[in-house]
This record gives sequence, C-alpha cells and structure tokens, in this order.
Amino acid sequence: MGLFSGCSGPQSALDPAGPQAQSLGALFWWMTAGTAIIWLAMIALTIYAIRVEPDPAKNAGRSRMLIVVGGTLIPTVVLAVLLTYGLAMLPAMVAPAPAGSLRIRVIGEQWWWRVQYEREGRLVELANEIRIPVNEPVQFELMSSNVIHAFWIPSLGGKRDMIPGRVIPIALTASRTGLFRGVCAEYCGASHALMSFIVEVMEKPAFESWLEQQAADARIPSNDDALRGQHLFVENGCGACHTVRGTPASGTMGPELTHVGSRFSLGAGVLTNDLSALEKWIASPDRIKPAAHMPAFGMLPPADQRALAAYLKGLE
Ligand code: CUA
Repeated sequence: MGLFSGCSGPQSALDPAGPQAQSLGALFWWMTAGTAIIWLAMIALTIYAIRVEPDPAKNAGRSRMLIVVGGTLIPTVVLAVLLTYGLAMLPAMVAPAPAGSLRIRVIGEQWWWRVQYEREGRLVELANEIRIPVNEPVQFELMSSNVIHAFWIPSLGGKRDMIPGRVIPIALTASRTGLFRGVCAEYCGASHALMSFIVEVMEKPAFESWLEQQAADARIPSNDDALRGQHLFVENGCGACHTVRGTPASGTMGPELTHVGSRFSLGAGVLTNDLSALEKWIASPDRIKPAAHMPAFGMLPPADQRALAAYLKGLE
C-alpha cells in the first residue's frame, strides 16, 4: 500500500479540501487519462510494427495513414482538449477573494514563515502557523524579504511563488475543518526541506476566539523558573531578534514569540513543540536546521536553558 501513501493525508493534492484543490485534482485525473490514451496508442503501434510483415509496396498507404492519425491527429486532439480544459479553469484559479474577505499576509523567510493578520486595524504577527475559518474565501498576500520561496498547501490549492519586491495574491477556500500541511516548493537554500507550516481550518467562532487570543499581549510568567527565563531572555539579547508583545523584546529579525507556547511545532514544522524540543532548539538551532540564522546558546548553563524553555513554553 506504500504506493498509495501519497494519495491521502494532510498534504495530498489528491485528497482535496477545497474548491481550488478540487479542480486541480480533476485536472490531474484528466491529464492522466489523456496521457494514458496516448501511451496505449503508442504501445499498440509498437506491437503492430513488430508483427507486421515488412512489405513496403503493400503497406505504404496504411503506414501513411498511421502516421497521420496516430502521430498527428490523436496527439493534437488530446492536447487541444487538455489545453482548453486547463485554460478554462484559469480565471477561477486567479480570481481574488470577494472584497471584505479575510486577508493574511505570508512572508517567506530563511527558513520559516512570517504570518500577519489584521484585527481591528492592528497587525497581529505570528509564525509558521496559519488558521482560517471553514467555507470562507481567504485572500493570501505572498511576499519574500530574501530569496524566492513558493507557498503551497496541496490540500487547498495551487502553489504560488513568493518573489522579493512583489506582492503575489492567491485566494483559497477550505471546505472542511482539520489540520493540513503546507510546504515551501521552491529551492531556497540549505534548509529548504525544513520549511513547512501547519494550516488549521476551524469553525468561524473558534477561529475568532483564537485570533483574539493571538492578538493579546504575552502572558505574565506563572512560576519562578519561567520568570527567571524571562530575565535571561532579556539579558542574553534575545529581544534584539524576537518580539514578545507586552515586554521590551521587540526585534523583528526572527519569528514573533508572543504565543509561541501554543504553536503546534518549532522551527517551522521541524520539532514537536514541547519543553525538551525548546531546550534543544535554544542550545543548537543550526544542528536542527542547517544554516539557521539564529545563534546557538549552548554555552549557557543547562539550568538557564531550561528556564528559557520554561518561559517560552508558558507563552501560550
Ligand atoms: Cu523556502 Cu524553499
């Protein structure tokens, strides 16, 4: 069954969870059928060529006929049908979401995703996680601040390049709730393959309360370890690259951490988000994600690394 393992699951274009993905899935099956027809015709011709008696005088007419029908007519018809079908899909694929739809800006970084929502005129930034309401068109605005990345949620629709200096739009709708996986589909450097994100499609009320919670300032540390972690975070200069809203940390180089404790993963889909993974990441991010821009803090005493992890995990 390994052969069919890519046909379903949270990251399969063959298991569509929205209208855009549905029409792309249909295009895939039509193209598969079209190429199968051409392939079968070629095999039939090969068998015929092997079996037929070589008699140039007798077969001249039939050979000409085969070349015209099999070599010209059938491929032209099949390709013309597929092209027409594909082009007819295009307007719906590139149409923007209706005015007033939810807008989400996603910026490709090396190697993670900066995600920005707007709520009551205020920017809410998070990282490596996108949540959207079910059955509502969402307008994504894709950008990059460095190299070209490509934004792709196979279960929801087509991929789109993220090109520095441009804003690339793509509208997607999800027709069922659940967790899906998005990836970078353009080689963008050492950790290209370690750059994914989770998409959670939620019922509208759950989505609204999630966004409200994400828009809030960071929680106050709830225990001594976490409180010590917060001081260490400031002392070690973490705030020069990371923002934790409601605290002096306001750097923008690295991912926003205000609610990092509530995220599914760490390092853009690389680690499950728990205390030991946070410690590992703080100690040696470059060993988990080659060429990661974050410096390693493995020189800190283990107790300090643990306190930092406790502080970050508490930021829910
Ligand atoms: Cu970003 Cu590949």
